[in-house]
Amino acid sequence: MFRLRLIALMDRRSFLSWVGVGWIASCLPVAIAACSNTSTSGNAPQASAPRSSPRADGFQAVGTVATLDQSGQLLVKDFVGGSVLVVRDPANPNAIAAVSPTCTHQGCIVEWKTDQKAFVCPCHAAKFATNGQVLESPASRPLQTFTAKVEGDSILVKA
Ligand code: FES
Repeated sequence: MFRLRLIALMDRRSFLSWVGVGWIASCLPVAIAACSNTSTSGNAPQASAPRSSPRADGFQAVGTVATLDQSGQLLVKDFVGGSVLVVRDPANPNAIAAVSPTCTHQGCIVEWKTDQKAFVCPCHAAKFATNGQVLESPASRPLQTFTAKVEGDSILVKA
């Protein structure tokens, strides 16, 4: 009798072990995806097109015009020069503005606010123009800027 109970107990333990392994295996891909390097800030979407390595002229494709026009801004974290935030210049819709999204005050990630035509920091409300210049404190130094252009449907930024 004791032996039968022991076998039943072991089977239950084995069953629970396999259930535990199955649960971990099913959760692992979700955990890996949550820890990946392609997260967004605010409503700034990632570029949908696969990004490439920099070309010989230093430009790197960071997304498509269609994606930029659909979302209003592109935040790319795997840009060769660090993170880059790309928007259309409201003063010249044919021009592209690309800045480092890292606020020069204390390092928060700025977001493009179309209604304000400015990059706005969510931490202490500093504002920056598309050329990176400070519009409102507490930041005192401009955002780093990058040369950007459109080629076909691709948006290219030079580090
Ligand atoms: S970190 Fe951006 S305003 Fe303070």
